[in-house]
Amino acid sequence: MKVRCITFSSHGDDRGQLIALEQEKEIPFDIKRIYYIYGTTSGVRRGFHAHKELKQVLVCVSGSCKLHFDDGKETTEILMDSPCKGVLVTGVVWREMYDFTKDAVLVVLASEFYNEEDYIRDYDTFLNYIKENNFYD
Ligand code: TYD
Repeated sequence: MKVRCITFSSHGDDRGQLIALEQEKEIPFDIKRIYYIYGTTSGVRRGFHAHKELKQVLVCVSGSCKLHFDDGKETTEILMDSPCKGVLVTGVVWREMYDFTKDAVLVVLASEFYNEEDYIRDYDTFLNYIKENNFYD
């Protein structure tokens, strides 16, 4: 699965913690866009899409949430409970986000500007897309 966890180093001292993310260093692509999900309604599940080209790194900088990924062959669930933990997604992978705590802030660094054409928002269309393009291999 084209989903990989990355551990970021924190510059901690007696004042607290600081994590810096730079493109082509901690983030292995040029960052064109950053967005964050916060104030999420309790019990809500969101996402329900895949991207054709977009690369992303997700980081939960406050609180916690869970991520569900599905590449058509296998699924994985990742608990995002530390600002030191990033998840790099580079393939055509179905994703859902859930179990957000009240204070959760999920930051997403993305390789492209927002483009609705890059989204696959229907699960069966996603399965057909990866089959047609041999992304199973
Ligand atoms: P949506 O795709 O529904 O979020 P999720 O990642 O949970 O599936 O996005 C919510 C709204 O925000 C939708 O109207 C599209 C808009 N949006 C932007 O304008 N720019 C962006 O970069 C993103 C990710 C979403």
